[in-house]
Amino acid sequence: MPVGIDDMAIYVPKLYIDYKDFAEARGIDPQKLEYGIGIKKMALADANQDPASMAANACMRLMKNNDLHPQDIGRIYVATESGLDESKAMNSFVIGMLEQVYGESTLEHAGGIECKFACVSGSYALYDNTNWIRAGESNDKAAIVIVSDIAKYDLGSAGEYTQGAGAVALLIKENPRLVAFDERVTSTIIKNEYDFYRPFGKETPLVNGLYSNLLYLIQVRKALETYKEKALKAGIIVLRDDESVTDHIDYISVHLPYRRMGEKALAYLLRHEWRHLPRWKKITEEIGMDEPVPKDPRGTIESILADVEFMKADEKFRRAFMITKYYQDVFDKKMASSLQASAVIGNLYTASMYMGLRSLLEFEYLKNIDLYGKRIGFGSYGSGCSAMVFSGVIQEKYKELVSRMNLDRDIGPRTKISIEDYEKLHKNTRKYNEAFLDAEDEFILVNIGGKTADRAGFREYCYAG
Ligand code: COA
Repeated sequence: MPVGIDDMAIYVPKLYIDYKDFAEARGIDPQKLEYGIGIKKMALADANQDPASMAANACMRLMKNNDLHPQDIGRIYVATESGLDESKAMNSFVIGMLEQVYGESTLEHAGGIECKFACVSGSYALYDNTNWIRAGESNDKAAIVIVSDIAKYDLGSAGEYTQGAGAVALLIKENPRLVAFDERVTSTIIKNEYDFYRPFGKETPLVNGLYSNLLYLIQVRKALETYKEKALKAGIIVLRDDESVTDHIDYISVHLPYRRMGEKALAYLLRHEWRHLPRWKKITEEIGMDEPVPKDPRGTIESILADVEFMKADEKFRRAFMITKYYQDVFDKKMASSLQASAVIGNLYTASMYMGLRSLLEFEYLKNIDLYGKRIGFGSYGSGCSAMVFSGVIQEKYKELVSRMNLDRDIGPRTKISIEDYEKLHKNTRKYNEAFLDAEDEFILVNIGGKTADRAGFREYCYAG
């Protein structure tokens, strides 16, 4: 019995900052943000929102849209890197919020944990819950995996224009209507790294942007190598002499810290997959230069970054490759639709690839393409670091759900705020009772801490009807 994503729901906070205002305030060319990063609007959590309330809101929408009742759900997992407590798991807050609506103890059977591994943990949570169902442990109940994050970087830092906020809730079931995961192909890679991390007590990460970008590419490529071996062994992909595995994957959905990173990841993977194929000669002819080779054949991240001459030549080659018709054709057909949401929401850490999946389905459907049977390859990455590559096939009933998707409507009417107000939110000078917007039909944070020491750090939420 196939297992996979039966439906998905999103929650995006309604405040945003516009890239032109941001560029002006920081003295950056707006074209750098629009094209170099690929951002137009960055979603911001209001003072009365946090990753737990966003997760509960996405989950509630998923349950309402599918007329799901607590007894239909066996597990609720929350994957996040914006944890609210060092010990208490985020899914416990979510259960507490949902039970305000569905009734006390109605979800007491729905066990789960908060998962952490930077942006990749949602993919691990999906894999584990898929296997829970495959193993026959679910007692005919579904699992819900929620990915929820607030991407927040230091004011004035290079990461500041890759912020965003939001959550995606995914319903995992047997015989899913949207995407069934391929079996025996999921591949992971892991390494102890400090490309991006957030020590205890710090609200914003310490990040080496260039290093993290390159590490992301290398690790996803390595996981793809194992995926390839497994996919060939499992027989889901059969390669002829002049073919690459990417020829057999109809859509490519990758981790999206920002839109441009998706475009660059595709270029990196295609170069890797194509350089030994006959087509490469024609591509390098169109580019007008040979692909640069690093001096150190080990190709470790340290040796590549130290090879300044190679890095410079490789950048030139990469940019030229990205404007070839070979790259453009694959980009337009297999990736472009997955990037549309990222440009108007921003970075969602754990949720970014899944918002990308949702974007892919909605905008490919609008092209009147028959999506049934199309294979989606996923390249998930989390700093620190681990990558996961897996795939799934779009199912026959996808139209029922995808025809109802509408990103603008599902985000709802949005309010642009000034850079001054954004900075107040960023510095946490507005408290949970000083939100910019009135909440409607959603969970909000209404209290932190109590009058007595034994309630220190308590977070309380309510459903604002
Ligand atoms: N017009 C158009 N494009 C412009 C431009 C202009 N005026 N000025 C610069 N650009 C382009 C650059 O050419 C570059 O494009 P490229 O990627 O195709 O080479 C892009 O804008 C980014 O500029 P760059 O100066 O290279 O990087 P940056 O210092 O702005 O930092 C990040 C970008 C992503 C490294 C930084 O935002 C960051 O650290 N983010 C957080 C970490 C992260 O997201 N890591 C990802 C892996 S998980």
